[in-house]
Amino acid sequence: MNLKDRERLFLVILQPSDLPKVLDLLDFVYWRLEHKDWFFKDDEDFLSRHFEARGRIFGIFNEDRLTAYAVLSFPGSDHDNIAQHYDISQEEYHEVAMLDSCIVHPDYRGRSFQYHLSLQRELCAKESGYTHLLSTAHPDNAASVNNLSKIGMKIYRTGIKKDNKIRHFMYKSLK
Ligand SMILES: CC(C)(COP(=O)(O)OP(=O)(O)OC[C@H]1O[C@@H](n2cnc3c(N)ncnc32)[C@H](O)[C@@H]1OP(=O)(O)O)[C@@H](O)C(=O)NCCC(=O)NCCS
Repeated sequence: MNLKDRERLFLVILQPSDLPKVLDLLDFVYWRLEHKDWFFKDDEDFLSRHFEARGRIFGIFNEDRLTAYAVLSFPGSDHDNIAQHYDISQEEYHEVAMLDSCIVHPDYRGRSFQYHLSLQRELCAKESGYTHLLSTAHPDNAASVNNLSKIGMKIYRTGIKKDNKIRHFMYKSLK
């Protein structure tokens, strides 16, 4: 990450006490999105389950300002496990880690924050023993597709997700 004058950037795993900052950033960015169909807006309940129970949320702070966050989820047998779009057997669903939503505040875009957050999420998934890394991106969301490709994810197939939205289904083996 390139540092600008007087910046103090640090990338951390967020704590439950950071939830209000996550929700503020999500609201701020979501209502300004030009292409809302490129992004699925998580709700508070979903996000609050990702501080430990079902995954992690990584964030980048500049001092105490949250500038970006990204969700890593371990969906197991939950209905939102996208493993059904891949040739992954049900016995292996508990080995799936998903790179879920990622948001960068517009003031901080163009500095590869999504890439760095994705690298850290991949590392965490691998160290936690997950063997399949899955993610989705809207085909026109070039920034997302590029950043996922830069960590070695490949387009596995392109199709319609459960929510009726078109997505590239991206894959990387962590074995
Ligand atoms: C997708 C997103 C997370 C990427 O953010 P990022 O980490 O800053 O992305 P990058 O640093 O890779 O930059 C992406 C592109 O935006 C360009 N860019 C530069 N400054 C920019 C700015 N101020 N605003 C927007 N884009 C900018 C970069 O040059 C780069 O273009 P390139 O790929 O042609 O070089 C961010 O755009 C975002 O929050 N979008 C809204 C939510 C979303 O779509 N999330 C992904 C799906 S979950």
